[in-house]
Amino acid sequence: MRNRMIAGNWKMNETYTEGVVLAQGLAKELADGTGDVDVVVCPPAVDLKGVAEVIEQENAPFALGAQNVYWEESGAFTGETAPNMLTNIGATYCIIGHSERRGYFGETDEDINKKAKALMAHGIVPISCCGEPLEVREAGKHVEFVVDQIKKDTEGLEITDPSKFVVAYEPIWAIGTGKTATADDAQEVCGAIRKTLADIFGKETADGIRVLYGGSAKPNNVAGFLEKEDVDGALVGGASLKADSFAAMVKAAM
Ligand code: G3H
Repeated sequence: MRNRMIAGNWKMNETYTEGVVLAQGLAKELADGTGDVDVVVCPPAVDLKGVAEVIEQENAPFALGAQNVYWEESGAFTGETAPNMLTNIGATYCIIGHSERRGYFGETDEDINKKAKALMAHGIVPISCCGEPLEVREAGKHVEFVVDQIKKDTEGLEITDPSKFVVAYEPIWAIGTGKTATADDAQEVCGAIRKTLADIFGKETADGIRVLYGGSAKPNNVAGFLEKEDVDGALVGGASLKADSFAAMVKAAM
């Protein structure tokens, strides 16, 4: 079955120096291991190498993820990062399609699909984000909105190992607002995501894909989400910036 996953998205927080300290703190908090829970830390691009070194030095039980990637192999794409640049420094996961990238940087489902393909061609696991804005939720159209994103974002993907593709459902109105979806809200959409994945890739594959919830997930509410059948973990923003609170979420998932 699916191992649970707790992934931390540091967003645009932590300088290189601060990031190293945070990663060291997390390595200490998790020194006894994480059981069957897969833990991923996604720092800003300039921190990746420093966190990779901490993971190696401390033999830390978490994997390294990036927050973004470009789909081309190399060339004149100022400011972008290619997939092989991520593998070269030890990143094995990459967040794509975060609502902040869609909203502030104009990323489309087509872009996200190209990023997923490029990452998978390099053996990097995409954490592919989806989620509806408040007005869509209020109009009761959230399930169809997210299902449409999933269909577009996964178009033409070949998923041979379902543990190597992760989806994160993050209702935009719950991100960084302190306003969480209820566990039932999360289950409704995560269940619809898995059904959509089953329609596209077959039930066996869909049953192996981790679907995470994200949006004001904290140590005191994560267990409620994890009880739900189709919620396999959390993508954590704010609460991943303190080693003790992030570690507490990992322990709640164990
Ligand atoms: O990627 C993480 C999400 O955007 C959630 O952020 O936990 O600060 O609400 P948050």
